[in-house]
Amino acid sequence: MQKYKILKDVLDFAKNKFYKHDIENPSLDMAILAAKALGLSKIQLITKEYVSFDTLSISDDKIQKFLYFIELRCKKNSISEILGIKNFYGLDFIVTNDVLTPRPETEILVEKVFNYILKNNINNIIDIGTGSGCIAITVAMLLKKKRLENLKNIKILACDISEKALEVAKKNAKKNGVLDMIEFQKSNLLENINKKYLENACIVTNLPYIPESDAKKMSEEVLNGDPKLALFSGKTGTDLYEKLFTDLFQENSNFYNINSCFFEFDSGMNTENIQKKYYENLLLNKLEIGNNDISFFEDYSGCERFGKILV
Ligand SMILES: C[S@@+](CC[C@H](N)C(=O)[O-])C[C@H]1O[C@@H](n2cnc3c(N)ncnc32)[C@H](O)[C@@H]1O
Repeated sequence: MQKYKILKDVLDFAKNKFYKHDIENPSLDMAILAAKALGLSKIQLITKEYVSFDTLSISDDKIQKFLYFIELRCKKNSISEILGIKNFYGLDFIVTNDVLTPRPETEILVEKVFNYILKNNINNIIDIGTGSGCIAITVAMLLKKKRLENLKNIKILACDISEKALEVAKKNAKKNGVLDMIEFQKSNLLENINKKYLENACIVTNLPYIPESDAKKMSEEVLNGDPKLALFSGKTGTDLYEKLFTDLFQENSNFYNINSCFFEFDSGMNTENIQKKYYENLLLNKLEIGNNDISFFEDYSGCERFGKILV
């Protein structure tokens, strides 16, 4: 027999538990989880506008579901992991433990790439490290909406080293109605990518960029929720991009005929932007890309987090 039956009691119980477990936004999180589990309006839960707030009786199975969600949140699972869905650029994406939960700042990367594609004649878009597929799928959606004749022939390839991530990405492409616009390929960076795809391609990539030693400083929420494969990239966080850029731009490279590459990296969050300096040096001095062909742009907090390389 359930101990709690009335909406107010259930919510009070959850709220107290959240305070005890130091959950950052207890009221908002509770409203989101209650709305989903109990089938109520999120807005009304937040504004406490339920007329029958003190009397509304909730069925046992709904309460069980809600209490289960509360338990997961107290164990520091994120809201998107609990619900299994994350909104990105207005689209819903399935998220599991096999993929990184899409981050809002990556929407900026998508927007920049899409604006670039509109103005430049490119053959293909290659998303390296696609994860949930949020970049490739959103670009596909935007292209679909434009219905421009010259964009119809652009092919989209979504790659990842993780088979499980690719399965999630395919489900998301289907969910968002663009499965027929995207090819999926298991590949360690460029390894299995057919050269025909690299011809005049725009590469867009959000590869792992966190230094391994930072794991100690990271929140349980991120460490438990996102796969390690999606987070870390060697000692300084730069291993994967260094390998990718060297493969792409080294003299005599097999892959030199791409058009451009957009990438996301660690901005250093108001401290010294170490990774930006590292990539600048690598691209300008070691790989001899021209100064005018490299630029950086900012995220919502004004930190340079994205790079653009024109070839
Ligand atoms: C930071 S997540 C980004 C996921 C998604 N693109 C996004 O922006 O939310 C990085 C992704 O790169 C993949 N990855 C890691 N190492 C890789 C490699 N060597 N080659 C290809 N993909 C890799 C991971 O599996 C993960 O899905």
